[in-house]
Parts: sequence; structure tokens; C-alpha cells
Amino acid sequence: MGKITAAITAVGKYVPDYTLTNKELETLVETNDEWIFTRTGIKERRILKDADKGTSYLAIKAAQDLIAKRNIDPKEIDMVIIGTATPDMNVASTAVYVATKIGAVNAFGYDLQAACSSFLYAMSTASAYIESGRYKKVLVVGADKMSSIVDYTDRATCIIFGDGAGAALFEPNEEGLGLQDEYLRSDGIGREFLRIEAGGSLNPTSQETLDARQHFIKQEGKTVFKYAVSNMADASEKILERNNLTNDDIDWLAPHQANLRIIEATARRVKLGMDKVMVNIQNYGNTTSATLPLLLADYEDKLKKGDNIVFAAFGGGFTWGAIYLKWAYDSK
Ligand code: COA
Repeated sequence: MGKITAAITAVGKYVPDYTLTNKELETLVETNDEWIFTRTGIKERRILKDADKGTSYLAIKAAQDLIAKRNIDPKEIDMVIIGTATPDMNVASTAVYVATKIGAVNAFGYDLQAACSSFLYAMSTASAYIESGRYKKVLVVGADKMSSIVDYTDRATCIIFGDGAGAALFEPNEEGLGLQDEYLRSDGIGREFLRIEAGGSLNPTSQETLDARQHFIKQEGKTVFKYAVSNMADASEKILERNNLTNDDIDWLAPHQANLRIIEATARRVKLGMDKVMVNIQNYGNTTSATLPLLLADYEDKLKKGDNIVFAAFGGGFTWGAIYLKWAYDSK
């Protein structure tokens, strides 16, 4: 028996129907379509409007899409990991609820929080469980209802984020396909620049924190931008070097969708033309944990068995890294 690698064998997605356009944002804050598009590449994002629905709703829909497409029995799923920065609740795991709702009654699950790198880190976790031989079907969902933590009076954040979810199934592979290598890093300096100040154990919610709008996400955009550009590009370059790959060997770059300028800078560093770069930020904005699986779902038709894909992400914390994966199937 050959070495077991962890391959992605199916993907699924869900984005809510409501489209928040740049034009509509013009009515909420002092901004304009041209500024948003030229500075970020974003045209519109999807918003989950229903007040009674949280991130689990998005995750369940994406997981069900995957289960239907791959035609698997949810009872076969061993483990459910939900990458999210916006769990339904701080206590009571979102993954556990999702697993139960999709009928994964033989699975255990937990949430993984690494901001915009949640899905990347979860790919690593899922692959380790598969490679060890411990589990055979690990479902990873990246899902975020960012509209629940966005301040729609703050133009530095409300133009960027959107809601959505994507799912990927990891299974053992004996042809050498799937995850090949990873380079994951973090740096605690990041919490100075991108955070939700209140609502955690350090600064619990109070009337004062609510009045100061500290329950919303805040960022120093320029600083985050600089760290994101250099770290995403460095990580991508490093993963190529470590695996003796040149730009010619790479079929696709799948970069976190935070800002088109960050994506372009990363592509330039690894000398890839934009025709090899997955981009859907124009449609969804930054969906945090969902960006990478949403890319896979949107580009699935173009992917071929054996394609070399480099994933790269950067997020709050700071957290960042790159993963080199060989795609495992042709989609019909
Ligand atoms: N509409 C219009 N003008 C705006 C604006 C908006 N939505 N937001 C900021 N501006 C103004 C600023 O006030 C500033 O004006 P000034 O020069 O008169 O002071 C000017 O535009 C430039 O602002 P700046 O913050 O320097 O813009 P930027 O080019 O850095 O773009 C971000 C801002 C947020 C789009 C960009 O910094 C970014 O994408 N950062 C990374 C965000 C990110 O990835 N976060 C998630 C982590 S993965």
C-alpha cells in the first residue's frame, strides 16, 4: 500500500440571495462605486438578511450542496470542522450543530478560528487526520456571516466583507494526489490592527462597550494591507521553492479574497499571469473563512486531475500561510 495523502474529493457552496452593491453602500457611508472597485476589486457582496439565521445556516447549505453533488451518505462522515470567525454562539460549537443538521450522526466536530486563514489551517488539520489513517471522510466548511460583526457606519470595513460558505471533503488517496506541503505561520502582533475589541473574556460586553460600538470588527486597513501583501507573497514563494516548483509547474493560485491588489501582488511575486489566478472577489467581497472553498466551487469545472494548486491566505491574528495541493478529480 502506498503512502496515504489527503485529497479533496468534492466541493460545495452557498451564498445568500441578497446582493449588497457598491451603489447601495453609497447610501450608507461616504463612499462611491469607483473608489471601492479601484481600491479593492469588489463590485458586490451577498448578505444573509434573515435575523433568525446565523453562520450555521450558510454552512449547512454548503455542506448539503456537497453531499448532494458527491452523492454520499452523511452517516459516513467521520468529522466536521467549521472554519469560522462568526460562530452562531461563543459557547455551543457551530460544527456540532451543523453535523447534526446534515445527518452526520457518526461524526464529531469542532470550530476552528483563525480569522481569514481558518480554511487554510483547517485543510492542514483535516489532512493530518486523513494521512494518519485515523479517519476516512473529513468535511471542512469555511463559513462566515460577516454582516453580523460589520459596522455599516464604518466605511473602512463595511465595503469589504460579505457572507458565504464553501465546503470541501477530504478523503484518503493512494495516487499521490491531494495535499503535498504546507507553510503556516502566525504573529500575535496582529491583534493590534484587526480585531473585535469587546465581547471576549478580556473585555466582556457591557453597556459601555456597546455604546462605543466595540462589538464590531475594526481594522487599520493600511497596516493590514502591508502585512497581507508581504506575508501572502512570501508564503507562496516559499512553498514553490521548497517543492522545487517554478511558475510553469503551477496550474492555479487560489488566494484569499481580501483585496484584488493583494491578490495581484501575490501573483506577481510568484510570476503567475492572472489567467492562472482564481478570483471571485468582485461578486462576494471578503467572506473570511469562505473565500478559498468558494473559489474551488466556482472554478471546479476548470480543474483537472493532477492540477497543481497553491492556496495562500492571510488574516487576523495575524495568521497566514500557503498550501500546495494536487487536484484529485476531473469534474464532469
Ligand atoms: N470610500 C471612500 N474613501 C475612503 C474609503 C471608502 N470606503 N475608505 C477610506 N477612504 C479614504 C480614506 O479616508 C483616505 O482619505 P485621506 O487620504 O483623505 O485620508 C483615503 O481613502 C485612503 O485611505 P486608505 O485607508 O489609505 O485606503 P487604502 O488604499 O489603504 O484602502 C482598504 C483601504 C481597507 C481597502 C485597504 O487598506 C485594504 O484592503 N486593507 C486590507 C484589508 C484586509 O485585507 N482586511 C481583512 C484581513 S484579511
